[in-house]
Amino acid sequence: MTTHLVSVSINDSDEQLTSKLWAPAKCLSEGGTVAFPTETVYGLGADATSESAVKKIYAAKGRPSDNPLIVHIASLDMLDEIAHSIGDLAHRLMHAFWPGPITFVLHKHPDISNQVTGGLETIAVRMPSHPIALKLIALSGRPIAAPSANLSGKPSPTQSKDVKDDLLGRVDWIVDGGDSEVGLESTVLDVTGSVPMILRPGKITQEEIIEIVGACEIDPAIMGATIDTTGTAKSPGVKYKHYAPEAEVHVYIGSNTEIVKILFDLTQKMLNAGDMKVGIMAFEEDVCVLNQLFHSAKFNRDQIEVRSCGAAGDLTAYGKNLFNLLRGFDALKCDVILVRGVDEYGIGQAIMNRLKKAADGKVTRI
Ligand code: TXA
Ligand code: MG
Repeated sequence: MTTHLVSVSINDSDEQLTSKLWAPAKCLSEGGTVAFPTETVYGLGADATSESAVKKIYAAKGRPSDNPLIVHIASLDMLDEIAHSIGDLAHRLMHAFWPGPITFVLHKHPDISNQVTGGLETIAVRMPSHPIALKLIALSGRPIAAPSANLSGKPSPTQSKDVKDDLLGRVDWIVDGGDSEVGLESTVLDVTGSVPMILRPGKITQEEIIEIVGACEIDPAIMGATIDTTGTAKSPGVKYKHYAPEAEVHVYIGSNTEIVKILFDLTQKMLNAGDMKVGIMAFEEDVCVLNQLFHSAKFNRDQIEVRSCGAAGDLTAYGKNLFNLLRGFDALKCDVILVRGVDEYGIGQAIMNRLKKAADGKVTRI
């Protein structure tokens, strides 16, 4: 299949946006597939009301069809054709956080195909804040089902290059709109019960939700050292292997001095054990220290790649860089990636959720 490409900028005028996005939007309304930027990660969109269009998403991604999709809308008017019985709790949260990086699980409208929801009676809905995403959806005039625009099992794409690597030749259009600002997929929040429950942590945190509605639980299946893959998690996607680079990922949590020491010792051990390439993801401050240590110890620098996930304490930067770095280590052909973990508080919950999956449980607290 030929994939058409178009570059759009958030600085484009409304007229420019309309003219550049007209063809991909028409493609969506005619049942095609279009990858597009959002503030969280790139999405792969198709008309949520067309079963045949939605099937193309699963085929392009190689995604299991019981893993439901998020439906994206450009205005609240679109809600009525996809969900019903939206309560006061959901309305307050939508008012507080939409458009933005949070998805609400609502009661599904009977006309929406099971293909979108994996047979569930609920439907996940998000109004993104990215101007290009909003414009594309509005021009198409359809609610747009869109999972992250990666091949199933790969880290989510935060740049158009990642989307091209995974989906060129598999989708009708790729809209290049620069880097995703958040870098982590949206918070998924079930608002069908009396207390909202986080099914997937994201940029909008448990603390922020509590501030609006007074209470917020988190699905116990996604907490703890490993992710429950037995199927008890309320968000079906959680049970699949996800965010996994080719390299083996190990995560370490502890104080800065301890982490630097353990990363140095482990690298030494691995390099002594054989012909390996080790990737290290550390805080900006620790990158300099590690580079000095490796230099003094005369390690073969061709076998070590040290990258910064951002300054200690700037977890927003960590979130933005995470998937990009994981993909980068694969491109560098690292065999192992040693990663600096963080405390599970605020956006740290989302970062650790993705890291635990990438590491398949190999998380050590020092
Ligand atoms: O930020 C995002 O959410 C991105 C952008 C493109 O919007 N999309 C995204 O979609 O991450 P995807 O398909 O990669 O992840 C959707 C998650 C999955 O874990 C899925 O199981 C869950 O949402 N989900 C979808 N519908 C659900 C439902 N009715 N009940 C519970 N979980 C649901
Ligand atoms: Mg995904």
